Amino acid sequence: MRVHHLVGAKQRGEKLTMLTAYDAVTARILDEAGTDMLLVGDSLGNVMLGYDSTMPVTLDEMVVATRSVARATQRALVVADLPFGTYEAGPQQALASAVQLMRVGANAVKLEGGRPRAEAVRALTDAGIPVVGHLGFTPQSVNKLGGFRVQGRGEDAAEAMLADAAALVQAGVVALVLEMVPEPLAARVTEAVPVPTIGIGAGPQCDGQVLVWTDMAGMTQWQPRFVRRFGQVGAALRQAVEDYNQAVRAGSFPGAAESFAD
Ligand code: KIV
Repeated sequence: MRVHHLVGAKQRGEKLTMLTAYDAVTARILDEAGTDMLLVGDSLGNVMLGYDSTMPVTLDEMVVATRSVARATQRALVVADLPFGTYEAGPQQALASAVQLMRVGANAVKLEGGRPRAEAVRALTDAGIPVVGHLGFTPQSVNKLGGFRVQGRGEDAAEAMLADAAALVQAGVVALVLEMVPEPLAARVTEAVPVPTIGIGAGPQCDGQVLVWTDMAGMTQWQPRFVRRFGQVGAALRQAVEDYNQAVRAGSFPGAAESFAD
C-alpha cells in the first residue's frame, strides 16, 4: 500500500481497512491478514502502557512502537501518530517530530485537529511526509472537549467540521480519520473531500474503517458501543495460559517430544 492507493481506492469505491498496531508480533498478523493500513496510534498509552489517556505518550515511546511495527510489516501502509505536545507549537516542531517517526519506518504520520493545524500539515507535506488528519473526537483534546463525546452535532458544528476538512485537504492530507461523528455528517465530509475518510464511530458511509485492534479482537473487557468484537482473543489467551500452568504443575509438560534425549 502506498499513499496513491488511498485515493485510487476511494475513486473505485473500495473500502479501506485500518487497525492499530503497537508491536512486531501483532503487526505481522494484522499485515498478513491483509489490513490496508496499520496505525501506530497514541492509544498505545491506554492500550499497552497502562496510562489513563493518550496525553502522557512521548515521542520516544512512539518511535519504539513505530520501529517495531514497521519492521514486521510487508504490505500495509504504516501510519504513526504524532503524540500530544510534539506538533502544536507549529510547523518546525511538527517537522522535527515527524522526521523521527519517518526515520524508523513510518510511511505517513497522523495529527489531530483542523484549521489550526493546516500550516503544520502543509510544512510536512512540502517536506515529503504524507499526513493523515484526524477530526471529530480528538483524544488529545479530551480536556477541552469535556470528555468522550460525539462531535459535530448541530449545523454550526457541522459547518465547522466541513471547513476543517477543507482546510486540511487544501494543506495536503492524504486521508482523514473521523472519530465519533454523527453518521450524516461523516457522509457529508466523505462526499465533500477527494481523500478517503476513515471512520471510527462515524458510520458506514466513510471510505474506510479503523478500530483499536485489542477492542475488535476481544482482548479487553470494556469497549465503546461503536466497536464490534470479531474474535475472543483474550479468552483464548487466558485458556492457553491456564492450560500451560496446569500442564507444568501436573508434570505433563514438557513431554518426551518436547525434550532433548541427549
Ligand atoms: O490512537 C488511536 O488509536 C487513534 C484511533 C482511535 C483513530 O487515533
